[in-house]
Amino acid sequence: MINVAILGFGVVGSGIAEVLTQNKDLIKNKIGEEINIKYILDLRDFPDSPFADKVVHDFNIILNDEEVSIVAEAMGGLHPAVDFSEAALKKGKSVVTSNKEVVAEAGDMLLKTATENGVRYLFEASVGGGIPVLRPLGTCLAANKINSINGILNGTTNYILTQMIDFGKTFEVALKEAQQKGYAEANPTADVEGIDACRKICILAAIAFGKLINPSKVSTTGISKIRLEDVKNAANAGYAIKLIGQAKDIDSKMYVSVAPRLVAYNNLLAKVDDVFNGVLINGNAVDDVLFIGRGAGMMPTASAVVADIVDIAGRPEIKNQNWDKAEDNDLAPLSEKISAYYVCVSNTEEQAKAIFGDIKAISSCDGEFAFITNAMKKLQFEELASKATVISALEIL
Ligand code: NDP
Ligand code: HSE
Repeated sequence: MINVAILGFGVVGSGIAEVLTQNKDLIKNKIGEEINIKYILDLRDFPDSPFADKVVHDFNIILNDEEVSIVAEAMGGLHPAVDFSEAALKKGKSVVTSNKEVVAEAGDMLLKTATENGVRYLFEASVGGGIPVLRPLGTCLAANKINSINGILNGTTNYILTQMIDFGKTFEVALKEAQQKGYAEANPTADVEGIDACRKICILAAIAFGKLINPSKVSTTGISKIRLEDVKNAANAGYAIKLIGQAKDIDSKMYVSVAPRLVAYNNLLAKVDDVFNGVLINGNAVDDVLFIGRGAGMMPTASAVVADIVDIAGRPEIKNQNWDKAEDNDLAPLSEKISAYYVCVSNTEEQAKAIFGDIKAISSCDGEFAFITNAMKKLQFEELASKATVISALEIL
């Protein structure tokens, strides 16, 4: 029997307990051993839960119990989650997590600690919720040089954008619904301002390029400034607006950013709606591969966490990844990035043409003129934009 402890009995933690219980026999048949939930750590008691008798409040009970071989961390936040994870690995317990903040900030250290202690550290649920994407990127696509990753990586913001665009709901109503459905972070600013997507693209980039960029070094813009007018202008021109995390190899340097971008309707990512996430990976041998699935929510996320537990239980000998920290000279300068832009200005069409040259007009009304530029370096775009009265400017994917 393999004994597991779950840290945090919230949306994800309770999902992990549910999947392990519901699919107990099926999992036992797959790995030949039963997985038993021995403890659940939380700050609160859950007297009405069928797992009430497993709840403990002192992490040391789990740490010092040699029968516990796998710890599933689903508490969220950096501390004490990172400290508990490190302590468990040092005690010879494998750790699985859905906590992207911990992986993006300290994944390199935790992977090394796991390797030094002969155990595993896995975090499939930290990116894309229920989508199997980290393991395929690290293994099935291992033969490739990864050229680019473009992902809709946050379920909450994709849900909000879809509800606003397709059902005319306000931002506030859509966010409240996302919170009620258990998609949002404890502080939803992390979703709305792109911080969560940033952590996830850092994790994907680390698997693709072997180096973990600290999220603080990544240019990150959220969806809070997207206007309904921009959504309509984009639609008129044949684009959807999506919050996209992007990691690219530019001349063997890493370019990583998060921003709302215009995605052409003929790009498969444009059709990834609601809480679904989509990750489009381009490798030099395989070309494009697209992963789609539910990016948040109790059971899809638990599916990924439990898959990590099953993987460790069934194949404890597999090596951990090895990440270095990305240094500044590993990063491509943002100013060199070439893109076309959607721009909305309060200048006239003639003025816009005089500044930006050859442009494709989209609409002109209420003193606003919207258009698409030719592809140019970000630096050049910023120089031109400084000569106009820009209301909105978004990169085109
Ligand atoms: P919740 O807030 O629902 O659950 C967290 C639970 O952990 C709460 O019950 C909380 O207690 C408990 N907790 C917090 N700190 C401690 C502590 N120091 N000791 C013991 N228990 C603690 O969060 P989620 O389940 O939604 O998310 C958990 C993690 O999974 C986060 O990192 C999140 O980003 C990630 N994730 C979430 C997804 C989702 O769809 N919700 C999807 C993918 C990843 P209390 O409520 O009393 O504070
Ligand atoms: N808040 C996150 C999201 C949870 O909405 O994508 C899944 O990581």
